[in-house]
Amino acid sequence: MHNAAFAALGLNWQYVALEVEPENLRVAIEDARAKGFAGLNLTVPHKLLAVDMVDELDASAKTWGAVNTIKFVPDAVGKLRAIGFNTDANGLVNSLREDLAVELRGAKVLLLGAGGAGRTAALKLAAESVAELFLVNRTVSKAEEIAGEIKKQFPSVKVVVGYPKTNVDLVLNATSLGLKPEDGSPLDEKQFSLKQARAVYDMIYKPAETKLLAAAKAASCRTANGIGMLVHQGAKAFEIWTGQPAPVAVMRRAVEGSVYGV
Ligand code: ATR
Repeated sequence: MHNAAFAALGLNWQYVALEVEPENLRVAIEDARAKGFAGLNLTVPHKLLAVDMVDELDASAKTWGAVNTIKFVPDAVGKLRAIGFNTDANGLVNSLREDLAVELRGAKVLLLGAGGAGRTAALKLAAESVAELFLVNRTVSKAEEIAGEIKKQFPSVKVVVGYPKTNVDLVLNATSLGLKPEDGSPLDEKQFSLKQARAVYDMIYKPAETKLLAAAKAASCRTANGIGMLVHQGAKAFEIWTGQPAPVAVMRRAVEGSVYGV
């Protein structure tokens, strides 16, 4: 998607994929800096490790405790500093707006999952001023921990561990359940009917339609998978590196072509 975006804007830049073992991450970052890279993206398991390997953390990386984007920026004497950013949470919110037209302020949201992705989503939703947040996770203590964090940081958000009895504006899956063909749905339909939901977002984008999304469609909910989140976290990284607005539609077409062959 980045190479498609560079081409669309006539930029003589190139995005390359490099496989790096975690024990070589520090050297790889130094190497990229020395070779004149504009920046880097990092994925699992490097996002947490890189926090201690950059010269400065942007507010986004500080907030989420993880780095998925680095930009090399010259200081006053021309020495390159590595600045760490995190564009994942932003990507989620932009995708919810673009793909589901969800207005988060004042919304009621049921969030499934309290792992790394679930925690970031929960805190970002609270920061976007949702009214009520229902947290469900197989390991209940992890949901309780996040609920405690939100109560402290965002006291105006009503946070409950467990399924809602009322209707919600959005159900968001942040568990990994659905990645494998044999996986069931992360939602317990005995506890919550999809008829109670207006929209359902699954962070999983492969398969394109999980069991959760199929059931949500059958219940006439608006639905979207996580491909838009992938596109938007990339678009934000593109803007950080180039300082130019990202051609989001071009990036989305490139990602869909690569992931779904369309
Ligand atoms: P990520 O960084 O993608 O969030 P993670 O931190 O390993 O990955 O979190 C995985 C999430 O999927 C967790 O919410 C996990 O539930 P637990 O906290 O109880 O482990 C959830 N998950 C994974 N497999 C699951 C399963 N078989 N049933 C229910 N939840 C599952």
